[in-house]
Amino acid sequence: MAVIRFSVSLEKELLSELDQYVRDNNFTNRSQGLRHLIEKHIVEKKWQCNNVVAGAIVMIYDHHKKDILARSNEIQHDYFDVILSSQHFHLSHDTCLEIIAVKGKAKILTELSEKLISIKGIKHGKLIMSKAD
Ligand code: NI
Repeated sequence: MAVIRFSVSLEKELLSELDQYVRDNNFTNRSQGLRHLIEKHIVEKKWQCNNVVAGAIVMIYDHHKKDILARSNEIQHDYFDVILSSQHFHLSHDTCLEIIAVKGKAKILTELSEKLISIKGIKHGKLIMSKAD
């Protein structure tokens, strides 16, 4: 594929952020860093679509917080057809880690993860998706 050169204007602070990103990820130069950022952003956008993907929703929460488990259960039952399995780990006296394996249309998985992660009291939540075919 042909490579086209173009110039980019960036604020000084943003450029130093880019350079830091390039260093942190061991890219050889800014072009590689930019390419990576563009691809990542566009691929994630494409994932808001009907493509079937597989992934996991990871959540950390305090099980003492009222209603988290009930609400999470309710949501998961609404999406039973895209949930493959889930695992619950008791990390400490208070903290739980839950990993939900999912497969389905990207936009449905995104919708499910947003509902789960936005439950009041969830400390941390993330959806990871990958091409399933
Ligand atoms: Ni637990």
